[in-house]
Amino acid sequence: MLQWKKNRKLLLAITGGISAYKTPELVRALTRDGFELEIVLTEEAESFVSPMVLSTLAGKRVWKQADYLSDGYGWRIPHIALAEWPDAVLVIPASAESVSRASRGEAGTLIGGILLATRSPVLFFPAMNVNMYEHPATLDNIKALRSLGYHIVEPDTGYLACGYEGKGRLPETDAILQEVWRTICPDRDLEGKRVLVTAGPTWEFLDPVRFLSNPSSGKMGYQMARTAWYRKASVTLVHGPVEKRCTHGIVTVPVVSAIEMYHEVIRRTEENDLIVKAAAVGDFRSSEVAPQKIKRNEDSLLTLSLVQNPDIALEVGKMKREDQVLVGFAAESTDLMENAMKKLARKNMDYIILNDIAAGEGSGFQSDDNRVTVISRSGHMLSLSGTKEEVAYRIWDVILSSKERPGIFE
Ligand code: C5P
Repeated sequence: MLQWKKNRKLLLAITGGISAYKTPELVRALTRDGFELEIVLTEEAESFVSPMVLSTLAGKRVWKQADYLSDGYGWRIPHIALAEWPDAVLVIPASAESVSRASRGEAGTLIGGILLATRSPVLFFPAMNVNMYEHPATLDNIKALRSLGYHIVEPDTGYLACGYEGKGRLPETDAILQEVWRTICPDRDLEGKRVLVTAGPTWEFLDPVRFLSNPSSGKMGYQMARTAWYRKASVTLVHGPVEKRCTHGIVTVPVVSAIEMYHEVIRRTEENDLIVKAAAVGDFRSSEVAPQKIKRNEDSLLTLSLVQNPDIALEVGKMKREDQVLVGFAAESTDLMENAMKKLARKNMDYIILNDIAAGEGSGFQSDDNRVTVISRSGHMLSLSGTKEEVAYRIWDVILSSKERPGIFE
């Protein structure tokens, strides 16, 4: 786990909206991810979720409106003690009423008192009926919250518990978690930067049902994208066929073949500041895709004719401006350093991340862990190992603190 993700404290402020019924699930997910929680409910929230369910799942008492300005806890004033404690406050779901009150700084409720007293970042997750959400009064209140420095996570669009379709759904638990991590992340060194990452394998079809590919899971590229987003970049992920993951906050461009990936990357190259080529692009494709499934034959020999795919990294390297950074990956099995350095020079990369694919356990394609060496243009090297998330985060540390970085960061 990333160092800054350890031992984090969250205050969950639950207000009176129907999606409060999802908060027990959220409490489970947050505790599973290692968060310590304090939970505060408004009186209205108790109509939608049971305090007892929440306290059982959190393993501690919850705080109710009746606790506000009460002398039942000795010298500890609940709203001050609760306001000082967390790394972040989540108002979830944020009802129209709670958004309205907070926009005026009202202190008539326990949650209102906490919001005024806290110096921690506050995330509002508005969730309500679409008409209530889109009412100009609510939109004005949300705007006011933004100008007060609160962070607003827009609701999802879809089927609403009240029977309507539209904008107003509470985002999925994974998306909520990602927003929390991004808020807590101590590094914001990619703020204002645009990052393009490629990930996963490509599929090069031979006939309608068969293709050439490789075992790339896309995990390393995904983590490069996710950790860049934590560091406040705007991120686009162009990915081949991979397992579904939470892509909240990241613009995703799914592709299948190398040619598709080539077009999607080239048309976005100019507008991005950093380009990370973590995809395991197929080097060859069939010279023609058979219109029907290829049948077994008499002489038990099938001859395929393959043509070379464009080298996307090479083309990006040719187009690249001085102020753009190109990061490549090299999966090598022999003469590791030498091959990686050659690749870096030939493709005009600024950094290459060498993956030793012969290293076995704890490294490579499908694994959740990786062992890599970051190599810069001038030949500086640093070996890193850990989960792919940890390795990705540290790759960014290296790139973003390097003296070799181009003008873009000066
Ligand atoms: O396949 P190779 O080891 O040359 O890959 C090195 C780098 O080049 C990787 O970053 C990979 O994503 C990129 N590449 C590419 N297009 C290809 C082959 C590789 O962008 N056709």
